[in-house]
Amino acid sequence: MRKPIIAGNWKMYKTAFEAVDFVKNLKPEVSDVHDRAIVICPPHPVLKDVGDVIRDSNIALGAQNLFWEDEGAYTGEVSAPMLKSVGCTYVIIGHSERRQFFGETDETVNKKLFAALKHNLFPIVCIGETLEQREKGETFEVIEKQIREGLKNLVISNWSLVVIAYEPVWAIGTGKTATPQQAQEVHAFIRGLLPRDVAQEIRILYGGSVKPDNIKELMAQPDIDGGLVGGASLKIESFEKIVKY
Ligand code: PGA
Repeated sequence: MRKPIIAGNWKMYKTAFEAVDFVKNLKPEVSDVHDRAIVICPPHPVLKDVGDVIRDSNIALGAQNLFWEDEGAYTGEVSAPMLKSVGCTYVIIGHSERRQFFGETDETVNKKLFAALKHNLFPIVCIGETLEQREKGETFEVIEKQIREGLKNLVISNWSLVVIAYEPVWAIGTGKTATPQQAQEVHAFIRGLLPRDVAQEIRILYGGSVKPDNIKELMAQPDIDGGLVGGASLKIESFEKIVKY
């Protein structure tokens, strides 16, 4: 049995006050939810404050990015030990916005993945095709390359922490969700690419315009193990509904 994960990716939204206020109000609303993991991924400057509010609760803390070295002269970067020290247990890696705007590649994703694993963070590795790639019929080829290169050199014992998020780029922030069937087709394909010994245990989340009114149908698919939620994670009402799908 794979325990579902509902993760909120706040992207570059919420100041310290707004972030703390949000989790203070969310905490009691979801305190009785134990059959799925709830993760909040706020921007770096508010991780500590949010982490302090949700410590010892059933809400876990995740970061949206990390650098692969533990420390050094890398102005503006943040490392896995730093994320751990403020209470993070998850980290998003290779989000399509980072690939698009900040030069993230499968190679950097792989380095970041190993940094996360070294420090026992659950990496949420994001993959997904663009609209152009889908229309050209390249979806499976693109996904296969992202998996083979982004997740290369893992040994079986590394896999237990790994979480994958399939996020079709054309569905992110556009209101266009992949149909549950479209998503399931790719999720099953991804699972088929994973080492046989671990494939059935790896959580594969869907992301891209997940909303309260489509989460149930998505979660009913056999290979969808949760959601990575952007826009709808910014409001308590919608995020709570998604958590309690
Ligand atoms: P969205 O974002 O839910 O706003 O489409 C999802 C994501 O980018 O992780």
